[in-house]
Amino acid sequence: MLVTLEGLDGSGKTTVWEALHDAYPDAVFTREPTSDSWYGEAVNRAIDDDGADPLATLFLFTADHADHLSRVVRPALADGKLVVSDRYSDSRYAYQAAALRDSDLRRPMEYIRGIHTAFTRPPDKTIYLDVDPETAAARSGATNKFEQAAYLADVRENYERLVEAEPERFVRIDATQSPEDVLDAVEAALEAILAEQ
Ligand code: TMP
Repeated sequence: MLVTLEGLDGSGKTTVWEALHDAYPDAVFTREPTSDSWYGEAVNRAIDDDGADPLATLFLFTADHADHLSRVVRPALADGKLVVSDRYSDSRYAYQAAALRDSDLRRPMEYIRGIHTAFTRPPDKTIYLDVDPETAAARSGATNKFEQAAYLADVRENYERLVEAEPERFVRIDATQSPEDVLDAVEAALEAILAEQ
């Protein structure tokens, strides 16, 4: 089973993902952008480059996803493992659709989803850590172009569209709560997801 964690920068996603390692020692914990490949390194260069072309950035993130799928996600799923990914395809649909909002693409989110449909493995469930853009920007320190409140407001709208389109896939968790309460809520959600299987 593939479970993904999604949310704005500063939603506490990575802290939760790290804390889950102890509770699920047999699961495969992974992330996007990947942190152990040159594709992931290329993506990180694009994140840190304020002048990076947003369409080129989309394809770097998507290349990293293709490599992540073939190298990590599909083999682990074929092995019958629980895979928990800190960010996955929805991050592209939410973040790059926002970055490409004023581009020549008429419907950026549909375009990005279309590219993925041909080859991706959709998540079985997605835990969405919901936080308002102001809190998200303040918590993340607004250190890169993706962490600014106005941009994060667009990203959040895109996440809302995704949740609306597939309400049965998403579990929404209020990420303005304390980190302990967020972790408790995520652990309870994951337990319920696994019990449903
Ligand atoms: P991280 O903070 O979860 O490591 O993600 C790094 C940044 O990259 C974060 O600002 C979100 C952004 N991002 C995208 O814009 N698109 C993507 O597909 C992914 C995986 C991350």
